[in-house]
Amino acid sequence: MSLMQKFWDIAKERNKTIVLPEGWDERTIDAANAIAENGLANVIVLGKEDAVRELFKSKGYEVRCRIIDPETSEYLEDFVNTYYESRKSKGMTLEEAQASMKDVNYFGSMLVQKGIAHGAVTGACHTTGDVLRAAIRVIGTKKGMKTVSSCFIMVTPKTEFGKDGAVLFADCAVIPNPDAQTLAEIAVATADSCKAFLEVEPKVAMLSFSTKGSAKSPETEKVIEATKIAKSIAPELKIDGELQADAALLAAVGAKKAPGSDVAGSANVLVFPTLDAGNIGYKLVERIAGAEAIGPVIQGLAKPVNDLSRGCKYMDIVNVAAITAVQAD
Ligand code: ACO
Repeated sequence: MSLMQKFWDIAKERNKTIVLPEGWDERTIDAANAIAENGLANVIVLGKEDAVRELFKSKGYEVRCRIIDPETSEYLEDFVNTYYESRKSKGMTLEEAQASMKDVNYFGSMLVQKGIAHGAVTGACHTTGDVLRAAIRVIGTKKGMKTVSSCFIMVTPKTEFGKDGAVLFADCAVIPNPDAQTLAEIAVATADSCKAFLEVEPKVAMLSFSTKGSAKSPETEKVIEATKIAKSIAPELKIDGELQADAALLAAVGAKKAPGSDVAGSANVLVFPTLDAGNIGYKLVERIAGAEAIGPVIQGLAKPVNDLSRGCKYMDIVNVAAITAVQAD
């Protein structure tokens, strides 16, 4: 069974509620219909009710979701007040809170924050920045964390790596140049994602161009420091660094370069030192090694919101909704 099929099965079983904020977009309507048809989740679509209904009708679909217009919603006043109270110390005015809550990304995030939905999937018509800023400001980070980042689930045909060929890569989409503390939080968040998605004990390799002091530079020092911080945040976590990618993944190389490591040679989570490295790394593995790249999955938020590519197809929205339901538990 493919990993995505497994996510679909988990989503069906959990029966969560997912909000799709971009109700004027045809792909969103196709996805809402497919999610309902396949029983993956209950769906809330945001938008002008008549226009959204008309879109469903024009496609010959029955409306099997809840439609909410943020501008006329019964929730609006409460959402504005909650948002204003949480941001007024940062200088936000009531008028600014009102304007934000009429934005579907902010309203969608607040539906999640209030527990009316369990997760949001948006970004077919918005930039990553628009999606993440709303989610960070309305929902915020997980307890004890300050960092929102992302991971990719890389499903390679090489079943000797990770779990049956699946390995998590991070961060490949959000934070350009993490300092040691931020890198440590990315590692801990990706270990959580590994548990949720692969259902195995995470083994986290903190990647570098050096293994165990084979080279020394401010860059290698950052990775060593991040590994120490991650161990202090999550003492039970199997994590090691700094490690080169071959030492992380190949048993023979790991045994030689990092003897005694409980991660080297069998890592299932790879944490890259910068966004350059992570973004280039996942694209190379996708294109040259023929891996399937599932993501970016946003991690580190207290409740899940996931971002879509503006070039996405409706099935991408359906799959990301299933992933969001897996995260929502
Ligand atoms: N984690 C937690 N909080 C954050 C983070 C983060 N990573 N980044 C910003 N914040 C907070 C800020 O502290 C700020 O909080 P405040 O409003 O309470 O003061 C708020 O979020 C907004 O911060 P800004 O500085 O205004 O936001 P910025 O414009 O820097 O955007 C963002 C932040 C959206 C996360 C940015 O880093 C971004 O756009 N990243 C995406 C990069 C990208 O486009 N990647 C595309 C590649 S995807 C691919 O190839 C698959």
